[in-house]
Amino acid sequence: MRRKIFVAAVGAVMALGLAACSGSGAGGGSGSTGDATAEEGGLIGVAMPTQTSERWINDGEAVKEGLEKAGYTVDLEYAGDDIPTQQQQIDQMITKGAKLLIVASIDGTALANQLQSAADKGIKVIAYDRLIRDSANVDFYVTFDNYKVGVQQATSLLVGLGLLNADGSAGTATGPFNIELFAGSLDDNNAKFFFDGAIDTLQPYIDEGTLVVKSGQTSIEQAATLRWLQETAQKRMEDLLTSTYSSGDKLQGVLSPYDGISRGIITALQNAGYGPTITDGLPIVTGQDAEIASVKLINDDVQFATIFKDTRKLADQAVISASAFMAGETPEANDTEAYDNGVKVVPSFLLQSDIVYKDNIQSLLIDSGYYTEAEVQAGQAG
Ligand code: GAL
Repeated sequence: MRRKIFVAAVGAVMALGLAACSGSGAGGGSGSTGDATAEEGGLIGVAMPTQTSERWINDGEAVKEGLEKAGYTVDLEYAGDDIPTQQQQIDQMITKGAKLLIVASIDGTALANQLQSAADKGIKVIAYDRLIRDSANVDFYVTFDNYKVGVQQATSLLVGLGLLNADGSAGTATGPFNIELFAGSLDDNNAKFFFDGAIDTLQPYIDEGTLVVKSGQTSIEQAATLRWLQETAQKRMEDLLTSTYSSGDKLQGVLSPYDGISRGIITALQNAGYGPTITDGLPIVTGQDAEIASVKLINDDVQFATIFKDTRKLADQAVISASAFMAGETPEANDTEAYDNGVKVVPSFLLQSDIVYKDNIQSLLIDSGYYTEAEVQAGQAG
């Protein structure tokens, strides 16, 4: 059905001879990425948060490519993680005549005015990966099953500690293990879903004393990392090591919700004398996004695991949903309950994610063409 709408939309555009399009190239920093104007199959604005994280670059490029193949002109913008910049970029997309917006927000609560202007002009809005909150004018949401991502993060921590086997059966380790918890940016709706999924999974082990959060910092507010920044996470890990682990107690595991945060944590741990690898006593550190630098660390026994969310699939889903709206249809949702944005439940299409361990890098990431073997060896996507 979804395919049909997509194919129909592409077909219609082709038939009208409108397939050729110019589009804009992804530029640097937080600036504009082109001078797209409304023409051909119509202008679609794509607002991405930042280029400091590799995943958003991949997302932006994949969405742009997919939309252009479907015959649309694309205005792709990155906001350098600055909220006013993202607001301005969306205002400008509307002024330029965008017919639809695809938005991965920085602060999910800061775009209500922009979305109101869009709605006033009949422009549909698709929230991309991150839900936009406090607005009735969010028409659709494409994302992953974010609660389940959190469950997978906690599961990978349990597997790393030997409390579970990768197939879900009980492991041979007994603990108790000291762990610390990190969460994402509180203004990102996803952060709470990841943390909830993880805590629900870890809680029984905490309750029975198998896992001990030695610092006592168990609330999401205490664990949060504003803007998901690596340096912020590194600093908090350093502080935790000083406050809680300087008199002989050892840390065995860290729940991390994102690869950039994981790398900050790992740097702090190594600087404090842990490791350098898991075999040498580096704590088990989890992650998310399968960023190439972290996949390389997993391959080298430094980071234990990450969660692979195939940005190609998310981009495809965004293009399918956008094409449906542009054809005057309603995109197909597979969840109409989970994502209440404070004003309404936003119909959503949720994709599934996978846990990446060292032994399935090949099958999940290389065989699927997400990375080449050489990229994994070098730790750099080329
Ligand atoms: C979240 C996203 C994660 C990760 C994080 C930091 O919203 O779902 O996959 O990318 O932001 O960028």
